[in-house]
Amino acid sequence: MFKSSRHASVLVEALAQPVMARAKAPTMTIELTRLLILAPYLDVSHVDRSSLLPGLAATCNDRLVRNTVSLPPVHRAGGAESLLAARRSTKKFMSHSVALSDVAGALWAATGRSDGTRRTVPSAHAVYPITATLVAANVDGLAAGAYEYDPRAHALNVRVEGDLRHRIASMTLDAQWLIDCPSAIVLSADIAASTNRFAQQSSTHGERFVWIESGHAAHSVYLWAAHRKLGTCLIAGLDDDVAARTAGRMIPARHTVLGILPLGHPQK
Ligand SMILES: Cc1cc2nc3c(=O)[nH]c(=O)nc-3n(C[C@H](O)[C@H](O)[C@H](O)COP(=O)(O)O)c2cc1C
Repeated sequence: MFKSSRHASVLVEALAQPVMARAKAPTMTIELTRLLILAPYLDVSHVDRSSLLPGLAATCNDRLVRNTVSLPPVHRAGGAESLLAARRSTKKFMSHSVALSDVAGALWAATGRSDGTRRTVPSAHAVYPITATLVAANVDGLAAGAYEYDPRAHALNVRVEGDLRHRIASMTLDAQWLIDCPSAIVLSADIAASTNRFAQQSSTHGERFVWIESGHAAHSVYLWAAHRKLGTCLIAGLDDDVAARTAGRMIPARHTVLGILPLGHPQK
């Protein structure tokens, strides 16, 4: 191996001199192989690339002579790229209602079934610990209340009746504006159950996976909302004590509120 980065740099300079390199060709071949392995880690920016042996210059690529590699541009004209570029957090909503088909799409994006038993979001060991609860206040054709989303049946089951927006707003540290949004999705999970399930891996993995998966669910809703030109925002800055006290029957027993995703038409 090279004794040091400096040693390698000296070698590169030697290779930059075609006459010398040809004179020691067999040795150079071995050294060149080593050099190519180390190339990304060397500072050889002082070497004049145009003076390298033609084969070396082609093989070494830009990594040999530059620390920064410019990437090809990302085309945002359609597909996933345009949704990722359009994704935004919306915190001001129009007062008018959202369609039932829109909340259905957002719930499906959060935890819905896509193919057989698989879902729209990934899950460690395919456990899918996250529950999505719709808090409806102004949804076409749906009475105000909290509804648990059942991914298997793609259906809603009533948990609590009435306008619950003040309750979910009180769970947040800085999102009182939730009282104005027509609907929201509450993500929750049984963290203790997940911890037990992954106890053989580690005492922390079960909880870690729940939080990671709530991020997946949230981002899925963000992308779906961007596609439908609807607004959403992950609210995870929660007052955990208030959330635990006030969630009550809105979410399944032993569940912890992980985040809240309002859904509605953004104010222009
Ligand atoms: C983990 C996480 C927690 C967040 N919690 C809150 C929150 O409690 N209240 C809030 O108003 N926004 C919250 N947001 C939204 C951020 O304010 C928003 O993502 C940020 O301003 C960047 O804006 P953008 O999403 O449009 O790029 C949260 C976002 C993330 C990813």
